[in-house]
Amino acid sequence: MSPDTPSPTIDALFLEERRYPPSPEFGAQANAQPDIYERNFDEFWETEGRERLTWFEPFDKLYEWEPPYARWYLGGKLNVCFNCVDRHVEAGRGDKVAYFWEGEPVGERREITFADLQADVVRFAGALRRLGVQKGTPVGIYMGMVPELPVAMLACARLGAPHTVVFGGFSAEALSDRLNDMGCEVLITQDEGWRKGGKVPLKQNADAALEQSPGVRTMVVARRTGEEMPFEDGRDHPWDELVAEESDDPASCPCEPMDSEDLLYLLYTSGTTAKPKGIAHTTAGYLVGVAATHHYIFDVKPDSVYWCAADIGWVTGHSYIVYGPLCNGTTSVLYEGTPDFPDRDRWWDIVERYRADILYTAPTAIRAHMKWGSEHAEKHDLSSLRVLGSVGEPINPEAWMWYREHIGGGRTPIVDTWWQTETGMIMITPLPGITTTKPGSATQPFPGVDAVVLSDEGEEVGPGGGGYLVLRRPWPAMLRGIYNAHDRYVETYWSRFPGMYFTGDGAKVDGHRDFWLMGRVDDVMNVSGHRISTIEVESALVDHPSVAEAAVCGRADAATGQAIVAFVSLRGSAEGSLEMLDELREHVAQKIGKIARPANIVFAPELPKTRSGKIMRRLLRDVSEHRALGDTTTLADPTVVEELQDRAATAPSEEA
Ligand code: WT7
Repeated sequence: MSPDTPSPTIDALFLEERRYPPSPEFGAQANAQPDIYERNFDEFWETEGRERLTWFEPFDKLYEWEPPYARWYLGGKLNVCFNCVDRHVEAGRGDKVAYFWEGEPVGERREITFADLQADVVRFAGALRRLGVQKGTPVGIYMGMVPELPVAMLACARLGAPHTVVFGGFSAEALSDRLNDMGCEVLITQDEGWRKGGKVPLKQNADAALEQSPGVRTMVVARRTGEEMPFEDGRDHPWDELVAEESDDPASCPCEPMDSEDLLYLLYTSGTTAKPKGIAHTTAGYLVGVAATHHYIFDVKPDSVYWCAADIGWVTGHSYIVYGPLCNGTTSVLYEGTPDFPDRDRWWDIVERYRADILYTAPTAIRAHMKWGSEHAEKHDLSSLRVLGSVGEPINPEAWMWYREHIGGGRTPIVDTWWQTETGMIMITPLPGITTTKPGSATQPFPGVDAVVLSDEGEEVGPGGGGYLVLRRPWPAMLRGIYNAHDRYVETYWSRFPGMYFTGDGAKVDGHRDFWLMGRVDDVMNVSGHRISTIEVESALVDHPSVAEAAVCGRADAATGQAIVAFVSLRGSAEGSLEMLDELREHVAQKIGKIARPANIVFAPELPKTRSGKIMRRLLRDVSEHRALGDTTTLADPTVVEELQDRAATAPSEEA
């Protein structure tokens, strides 16, 4: 490449031409109508703010923007728990189911109405108050997917005590780091959790964590498995004994009036190596953002049975299992366990039994179901489903197609929703009934969201170009900073393009101004001066009928700068032979070009993923360059990467 032609910021290679226009019938009944895109930014968020929430005192100013900090709905007073629970009961909807809870052990079920939820929250908030929790007391929560988890979060919100939920799959050390960073005084946990038929020792981990977290003076332990375990006198309290002494009269423990900008929660996201960041979300803007997006994007109706199959320990669960759906008074499914326990049709059994009409999950789960085969879904009646959602990673077009055909019966719109822990709410997404969808594209910024793709030089890239995804205007649910880390906040998000929020993701826009997410920019590979995104090569591989899942990364190469290494997991009976290797390389060459052909392919039954299902490319790079592995503590299954190392050491390699 000659020095005076600037290289594109990221090459766009993958061409996907399938189009799915919305059906007129869906469009006619949809919550979002096309004029939603014409609404003016201020009017949109102003109206959503006034109409979607119940305020104790109305706000008098929509927002204030002093980069890099925004404040929203200034002057307003409200309570998140009141909006999610009490107001629905007061409006006469107490008998409506809030959660259909399904335990992992087959047959364990609970139906929790909004009135039940209110009684549980009031009692538990009363118990917390008796333990000294008040407005501003930081509380840690370390639980599995039990009904007590949303109850604990809502009880904190009722009292005005900010919480941090730590995913139940994290270790004692990860828990302790987070408790210390936030300065938690109280920890809420449970005896044990169920996971894949086994027990997770949550209380035991919490005990170990508290050895390193002396600031936590009180622990509340919910009963799940009922296993006997030691309780430390004066520190540990059984949940059921505490609440037995409390009244369920909402007036006995009223909702604390909170300022719009009071802290609702911190959620820690791990960078790849550095100390986790405590992402701060506040009260009003966050609730408006999650409730509005939930309403329009999932087309939720009063009689919907909505199922977000994420874990509450991630932001997806905070925003779209707890706060968004409850604020909208929606009935949700809450499932405790794994998709393949006891059998691989567990999810489809749940959809059928509750007649769920909306399902929201992650590409990693969809690819797992693809790998297991469509026969499991075929055993069940999934005709209740109306809308399918995806979140967490770019979705490969073939996984999108499989989801649409085998789960959605070729009929349901798919909403591929792009957002982050930091954004709090969905930011780029189709709107069902309006948007013509394209497999692999998150399509359009949500109304009232200003997203652009910029080049290295900070110029907006034209159609077909790839670059950096940036958000130009503040939005209600945006993070209000990293807890106790102003400089890191500025450096991470606000220094790449001054005055604008840098997402860290690559993206391209097509001729219709639809967005295609291309993964983290740190993962972009550079082969002979071509900047190639991981997702495009992966999607080309997954497009091959024998491939279930693929992850690619760059390794150092003397000739080309970097060479592409692919880790491929095959479907069913397909074999990782030399012929297959040639076939896959040829397939990638045909699909997106010779330049993107992997130099090496490692066949492996499983790929290394974080506990939230994201592929850990940093480890793949370590494996590819035969380096000692970096930090593996956030891996869901550490043995997977050892297996990869063995296979990589013996994998056939070819000239690209
Ligand atoms: C990162 C944020 C958002 C809730 C769960 C993850 C990737 C997320 C998509 C999507 C392509 C996506 C991005 C983003 N991501 N959704 N629909 N298409 N990529 O939250 O752990 O904060 O991760 O996930 O890379 O930056 P998170």
